[in-house]
Amino acid sequence: MKTPVVLSIALSTLFSFSVSGPASGQDEDDIFAFIPAGGRTLLETVREAGLPQNLAARIAETGGDHTVWREALDAEKAGTPALGVLDDWQTNTLANYLAANTPLDPGGVLPRDGRDMALQLCQSCHIITVVITQDRTREAWLGTMNSPSHVEIETTEAERGLLADYLVINAGIPIDLVPPELRAGGASY
Ligand code: HEC
Repeated sequence: MKTPVVLSIALSTLFSFSVSGPASGQDEDDIFAFIPAGGRTLLETVREAGLPQNLAARIAETGGDHTVWREALDAEKAGTPALGVLDDWQTNTLANYLAANTPLDPGGVLPRDGRDMALQLCQSCHIITVVITQDRTREAWLGTMNSPSHVEIETTEAERGLLADYLVINAGIPIDLVPPELRAGGASY
């Protein structure tokens, strides 16, 4: 009874994608706007507003784990409005990104973050909703990525870790916050 309905919704979703998707560019940006920024975007935003010199130097010169970077970010929040406005989730997302990627060449192109990877790598076989509505532990995400359906997706181990970290914090988005045109595929799993 249920299948034809799901299928017809899925087909109309595919159809609306092919009509209004990449051709207009703007739709693509807008439709995914509900998915929270990843570390690359957060770092770009804070850099544009001006990073304190000592933090910028640390990012360019040293590595560190999540705790190290979370403390480094917290220490500069009071004096750096662009950092001060980041909420707890955003600060943790940025700390995970720094942990995965530092030291970072200040003039270089920033590596992709968890959100970039989800949008680039997780939409070719199923709708993104399957991913961003799941509330899971890091181990469970890594398990999914190492499952037979996913093991061939091209990522380094460090990237899979970063994607898992991003999804632990930022996935689990309630379905009513997902744009209606992205809901059909999510319901079919
Ligand atoms: C090569 C095709 C393919 C790509 C690319 C893909 N998936 Fe999947 N995914 C599947 C298939 C097939 C299923 C359903 C069968 C299963 O669960 O293994 C699935 C199901 C899922 C599920 C729900 C079932 C489960 O395992 O918990 C999640 C979550 C998921 N994928 C996450 C991801 C993420 C994250 C990415 C991007 C890193 C991704 N998928 C990219 C093929 C793919």
